[in-house]
Amino acid sequence: MGLDFVVTPAVLVPNPDTEVLVQRAVELAREQHARCGSRTSEQAPDASPSPSRHYAPNVDVVASDITTEALEVARRNVEVHGLGDRVQLICGDLMGPFVGSFDLVCANLPYVAGGITPCPEVVAQPARALYADVNGSALVTRLMDDSRHT
Ligand SMILES: C[S@@+](CC[C@H](N)C(=O)[O-])C[C@H]1O[C@@H](n2cnc3c(N)ncnc32)[C@H](O)[C@@H]1O
Repeated sequence: MGLDFVVTPAVLVPNPDTEVLVQRAVELAREQHARCGSRTSEQAPDASPSPSRHYAPNVDVVASDITTEALEVARRNVEVHGLGDRVQLICGDLMGPFVGSFDLVCANLPYVAGGITPCPEVVAQPARALYADVNGSALVTRLMDDSRHT
């Protein structure tokens, strides 16, 4: 996304998955804002809650992750990019900590099935950022179910 990020061993290094997700979120946020203004939930921000806010300056982002270590890295990146007044960070399990309704919920959740051994540079990243039950689909399915009630 043309931005530099602080990363530590506690987080997934942002990769093309992240960029595709952010690019689509920015498109949707811009379309929504053109219609009526918006509020965006960005679940699992890890290192990168900043790009969607940076490239879609008219949205409010509430970003969450289940680990405080990942959120601390996200907080540093929000600060580096001068977005502290526009991105709220909260800790919790999927939609658990969110209150109210959102125009867009986006997430790059873990999706690697247990028993699969990714390539060495991926496997070196935190397991909590990579693996999910039910053949890798458990967290995505739960987020979709929970989001319907938000
Ligand atoms: C694949 S990484 C994505 C990181 C970042 N969003 C990105 O795209 O570069 C998945 C993130 O989901 C978080 N996570 C895992 N289980 C979660 C849960 N139940 N609720 C919230 N976040 C969770 C992990 O801590 C990790 O930071």
